Amino acid sequence: MSFPAGFVWGAATAAHQLEGGNWNSDCWALEHAKPSFFAEPSADACDHAARYGDDIAVLAALGLNAYRFSIEWARVEPEEGAFSQPALDHYKRVIDACWSRNVQPVATFHHFTNPRWVTRDGGWNDDRFPDRFARYCDVAAGELAGELASACTINEINLPDSLGELMLRVKAKHPDRVAAAEQALGAPVESFFLFAGSETYARRASRAHVLARDAIKAAAPHVPVGMTMSIQECEAEPVETAQAAMRAYKQRVYAPYYELAKQDDFLGVQTYTRTLFGADGRASRRPPSGAEVTQMGYEYRPQALGAACRDAWAATRTPILVTESGIATKDDARRRAFIREALGSVAAAIADGVDIRGYVYWTLLDNFEWMSGYAPLFGLVGVDRRTQARAIKPSAVMLGQIARANSLDAGASEADFALSTSGAAVGLGVNG
Ligand code: FCB
Repeated sequence: MSFPAGFVWGAATAAHQLEGGNWNSDCWALEHAKPSFFAEPSADACDHAARYGDDIAVLAALGLNAYRFSIEWARVEPEEGAFSQPALDHYKRVIDACWSRNVQPVATFHHFTNPRWVTRDGGWNDDRFPDRFARYCDVAAGELAGELASACTINEINLPDSLGELMLRVKAKHPDRVAAAEQALGAPVESFFLFAGSETYARRASRAHVLARDAIKAAAPHVPVGMTMSIQECEAEPVETAQAAMRAYKQRVYAPYYELAKQDDFLGVQTYTRTLFGADGRASRRPPSGAEVTQMGYEYRPQALGAACRDAWAATRTPILVTESGIATKDDARRRAFIREALGSVAAAIADGVDIRGYVYWTLLDNFEWMSGYAPLFGLVGVDRRTQARAIKPSAVMLGQIARANSLDAGASEADFALSTSGAAVGLGVNG
């Protein structure tokens, strides 16, 4: 149960979800619309913009060797063409904090949020988007890319395609929220990433990725560049309507980006559960009856990760980095089981020849889970919402043990964690 030498072991975050005070972003505007699609505002989040040093120290002390974070465009280019040197310097310090603790920095250039000015002009549905994104990547990469271990252009580039139908239903159900959102953005709600699915989205998104990759490569030819994709295990009932629906879905939501990924250095795979296709020809994330369900309403399905990696590898033959995999739960014992089972499916895929270079858990800290607010707990480390105190969960310790040993044989005894299943701090000496 050992992993290949040099295997990457990390935890992921995204700027808007934990830095705090990202008020110049489109997402912040949507959070404050009345009524809003968002359960609550992101507010101070985890104050990670100030606390990144301590948070990276915790990650390193656990035994992880990579930190995936995102660079916030809304901070780096607050108005068109006006770049903020202090914002760029901040991310330089984040990168330095990683290297000073032997942690590889993996940066994502777009993780869901845009500056307000970009979205006001139509955002993802504006034909100027790819060039604007590329210009920001060019500047940010010029300052930062040389020191990165790897770079991701766009997080879950295919998510708008996969959310398409769901978002149509959500919009139809809440016309009042749509109206408030459009007033807050000064643009159609489809300008925002999560609502951007359309016939023409893939064309703009693909171009944005290619231009961004070229900009990062120009600044730092040695740094591996890829995008990340939301890839779930897909399973269809054994009837033709269901099988056909699954083929059509994969053709629309995965195939265009798999094609692009063939030119990249790696593909970031992000998996949370399984998508089922029924005889009615519809895709559904609804868990089968009797299945264990996570706080997100997803089916508990850790082995979906191995299945998604196999699918991506078969289609692309591009090396894979698992850039996100995780579970939202209050029960840290279920998180430990989920991690072990997900890693087991990764190890089995590697044994079958799938080229997987690393595993990055989503997420380091309990944080702002987009429209669901702060309720879902994905973190390896808890955060007290009032005091910002961090509490290392047993699952974090277990993952660190596996990472240090580079083997699933480590941290195997649940008895080791029996005293701290409540998620209380287990005293690594770095926890404030
Ligand atoms: C993914 C996102 C990430 C996080 C997880 C739970 O789709 O990339 O930001 O919200 O889901």
